[in-house]
Amino acid sequence: MPSYVVVGASRGLGYAWLQNLSASPSNTVVGLVRTPGPVIDQLTSDKISNVHVLPADLADHVSLKAAAAEVSKLTNGSVDYLIVNGAYMNHTTANLTPTALIGKEELLQEEMRRNVDVNLTGPMFAINAFLPLVRKSSIKKIIVLSTGLADPVGTKEGGLASAVAYSSIKAALNMVVVKYALELKEEGIVVLALSPGVINTRLDTPSEEEMAGMMDMMKRFQLKYPHWTGPMKAEESVAMQKDVIEKITIEESGEFLSHKGNKEWL
Ligand SMILES: NC(=O)c1ccc[n+]([C@@H]2O[C@H](COP(=O)([O-])OP(=O)(O)OC[C@H]3O[C@@H](n4cnc5c(N)ncnc54)[C@H](OP(=O)(O)O)[C@@H]3O)[C@@H](O)[C@H]2O)c1
Repeated sequence: MPSYVVVGASRGLGYAWLQNLSASPSNTVVGLVRTPGPVIDQLTSDKISNVHVLPADLADHVSLKAAAAEVSKLTNGSVDYLIVNGAYMNHTTANLTPTALIGKEELLQEEMRRNVDVNLTGPMFAINAFLPLVRKSSIKKIIVLSTGLADPVGTKEGGLASAVAYSSIKAALNMVVVKYALELKEEGIVVLALSPGVINTRLDTPSEEEMAGMMDMMKRFQLKYPHWTGPMKAEESVAMQKDVIEKITIEESGEFLSHKGNKEWL
């Protein structure tokens, strides 16, 4: 009978979460998306009828509060697992290193702003909107999707100077998770930053330049993780994330962990 809210559930890992959770009929599953229509159509086409879809945008705290009010009606006022999954990712700028942005100051500022709005302030808006519902749960778990690219140690070892805005704002998000964990520990609320591994969730075809950047990243990954054979499937990542989320205890609140439940990002 647990209740789950997945924020940013329209596609990729978010949608895979809806698929996974809906397989247990006793779960109450809510997906928050920016544009509900296509997601409802996709669920119908996938013959999934036990998922609630509500509108909300991570960059819009009013929409998140309105969604929390709607969820409260569906779940009797509580949420067991809040999974903040959605993120802004720009594949065009992902290859850029800090100095590649010299002369592109407006682009740098725009990228940072968007990353802050969706990937930093957004999760805080989501947590704050849903906190009253999480407080009423007996499970009380808040999961925020991070990335191994936000680990300074792994980044140094891998020699990856690109994806500067995304990586640094996700690193800031990890610190936000620590702050929430500290503040909410006495209430028994577990807050976790979770990296899902590497999953190819792109719907479009990468440009030649993007592909070259991705290949470079893959080579660097393989140097650090020789066993790694490439991206995994979304459903596989979600199953591993779920295992971590179920096992995590209040003692580990504030941690930044991988889908393997440790600091092994691949
Ligand atoms: N895939 C990977 O290899 C990987 C690796 C490390 C970390 N992650 C993290 O895992 C999470 C999911 O990644 P993914 O690969 O599944 O991403 P994705 O396929 O690009 O999907 C991104 C999701 O975020 C939603 N979103 C974007 N902006 C939003 C906003 N302002 N408000 C609400 N939702 C918004 C998108 O909704 P729309 O359809 O409305 O755009 C979409 O559902 C992200 O937090 C990402 O940083 C992924």
